[in-house]
Formats: sequence, structure tokens, C-alpha cells
Amino acid sequence: MTQALVGAATVAGYAPSIHNTQPWRWRVGGTRLSLFADRARALAVTDPDARLATLSCGAALQHARIALAAQGWRAIVTRIPDPTEPDHLAQLRVVGRAPVELQAVRRTHTIRLRHTDRRPVTGPPVGSDDLRAIADAVQAEGAWLHILRPDQVMDLAAAAGHAQHTETADPAWQAELAYWTGGTRPAGVGVPDDTIPLRAPRTTVPGRDFGHHGDLPVSTGHDRNAGYAVLYGPNDQPVDWLRAGEALSSAWLTAVELGVSVLPLSAAVEVAGTRQTVRRLVADFGHPYLVVRLGMLDTDNAGPPHAPRLPARQSIDRLRPKALSPGPAEGDSSSTPKGRGRHDPTSPPTPR
Ligand SMILES: Cc1cc2nc3c(=O)[nH]c(=O)nc-3n(C[C@H](O)[C@H](O)[C@H](O)COP(=O)(O)O)c2cc1C
Repeated sequence: MTQALVGAATVAGYAPSIHNTQPWRWRVGGTRLSLFADRARALAVTDPDARLATLSCGAALQHARIALAAQGWRAIVTRIPDPTEPDHLAQLRVVGRAPVELQAVRRTHTIRLRHTDRRPVTGPPVGSDDLRAIADAVQAEGAWLHILRPDQVMDLAAAAGHAQHTETADPAWQAELAYWTGGTRPAGVGVPDDTIPLRAPRTTVPGRDFGHHGDLPVSTGHDRNAGYAVLYGPNDQPVDWLRAGEALSSAWLTAVELGVSVLPLSAAVEVAGTRQTVRRLVADFGHPYLVVRLGMLDTDNAGPPHAPRLPARQSIDRLRPKALSPGPAEGDSSSTPKGRGRHDPTSPPTPR
């Protein structure tokens, strides 16, 4: 059992995360796999409420669920199992065997293929059947995806530009970005230069301004055929951000299997004012969690390399058997790390 749970947590490590912070920590004990937010890898300036960190953890949770299903394990998920322990985001409890899900087996391979590609999407528009399949994947995880109309894309472009401007004017934000991006990232966290465009891609909605150019070659094509969508949902609490991450993971893996490129664009939801603008784009029906670009890549050229990952041992803790006895009750917080700001000296990133 321990091996299966450690394996699932290891697969979860391939999940996307804001600035590749990998802000999760797993605890394996008995038949339980617990997911914690790792505040040591949170973005205090960019993401003070940990919305995007929690969303990233949700993507990791969905990866872990897939990995267990692919091994033929049936698991019950409890999200935010103990409200007095806000960093304890989820618990997966294995309750028995189940038939191996072939789709889950395929998805474990897709997990290894998925990666962020910041080049312009210069292929044809994404077909309506593919868009529907991606939106359905979001909805199956309890969130919604609104595909923006062309006039709304213009509003989004203005909001994203304004958000970038607000952020780059803030020296603390600049310092945080510089800490987490650029260089080769030997510590296994952060966004390396070989995944950052060599020059600003020609896009309708501005992509992340990393404050410097990287090494990733980009074509001179314009991504005018790109589609833009808002991932949103009915509420704006940590459990909703977690579910949004599960929805992002499911949508992105579905997209990879359809040959569709997904690029998260979070600047517009990081700044409170522009998040309101994005909220109006979903007609005030819900709360926006993330903007994504959807498009078909020009597959003639090789894509960027995969961003590095932390060694599994730095994000997975195994409970020793005696710590398991007599076994924590459902929702029991006795085996959980106490308090916020828990810090593992092995986990902080190395600045470039
Ligand atoms: C919540 C969230 C927000 C993100 N925001 C952006 C963004 O604004 N711009 C960008 O280029 N990439 C963004 N990304 C992509 C991450 O930088 C990427 O997932 C991370 O570097 C790991 O790389 P990988 O996706 O190739 O595994 C975001 C990812 C997540 C999960």
C-alpha cells in the first residue's frame, strides 16, 4: 500500500504549478495519502491568499487520483478534512481494489507529456468538439469553463496588460518573480530560461512578462487563432480553488490527448482590480480562478523542454508505523503538521 501511495504522490509531482513552485507536501501513512499546502513555497506577494498555490495543489491532487485509479485502487477523497488545519487540503483514503481504469492508465502517460508551452499558437482554431470536450472535463470536476467571445478577448487583453503593469511597478513583486524564474533552476523548482521565450511572442492577450527574455525560440507568427477561456465556479473559498485545480488538470490532460495546447495566464486574476474585470467576463455568474489560452501549436518545431521537478523525497513524508498506531480517525488532525508557515529546510529554492 505504501508503495502505491508514494507512487501516486510521485506522479502528482508532475502537476503544473504557479511559477513551478510545487507548493505541496504529501504525507503517506497506512491507507491514507494526505495533501498539505507547503507555505515555504508560497508566493507571498503575487498570491497572498494562496489561491493559485491551492489551485496548483488541486492539480496535483487530480494527478494522484489518476495514479491510484490506474493501479486499480479505489480511494475516497475528503477535501479540507479538518477546517482547523487549513493547510491540510485533502486526504485520499484507499478503501479497496477496483477494476483498473484504462483511461486512467492512459492519463498517467499523458501526465508525463503535458507541459507549458509559451510559444504563440499559430495553427488553426481549436474545433468546437474539442472545446466542448475540454469544457466537459472542467465541469466533471465541479467548475466551469467560459470560452470568451472576440469582444471579451479584447477586454481580457486590456485587463492582462493592466495587471502586468501594476505588478511590474511593484519592486517586491519584481523581486519575487526574479527569485522564482530564470537560470537553469538546479534545485528543481521555478521556471527555467529554456522555457521562457527568447523574445515577446506576438499574442492578442499578453503572456507573462518574466522581466527578461529566456532561451526558448519563438516564431514570428501571431496567435490570432488562439481561444481564451476563464475557469470559474460558484464560490471563492479554498475548497473551490482546490477543485479548480482538479478541473485544470483534467482539462489540460484532455487537451493534450486532443493535440490542444493550454497556457495558463494568471496575471489578470492576481490583481484584485483586474480580477473583477475578469469576473464581469463571466457575467457575474461566478468567481474566476484562472484564464487559459487554448490553441493548436505549429508542430513543425520542437517544443520547450520540461520544467524541472523537486526530488520526490523533498515533497513526500512517510509516517513511521508506530506513528500510525492506533491510527488517526477520519478527519483527525493528530498526524498533520501544525500551524502555518511550516518550513522544511530542504525545500526552499535556490535563487539562480
Ligand atoms: C495556477 C497556475 C498559474 C499559472 N500562471 C502562468 C502564467 O501566468 N504564465 C505562464 O507562462 N505560465 C503560468 N503557469 C504555468 C506554470 O509556470 C507551469 O505549470 C510551471 O512552470 C511548471 O511547468 P510545466 O507546466 O511545463 O510542468 C501557471 C500554472 C498554474 C498551475
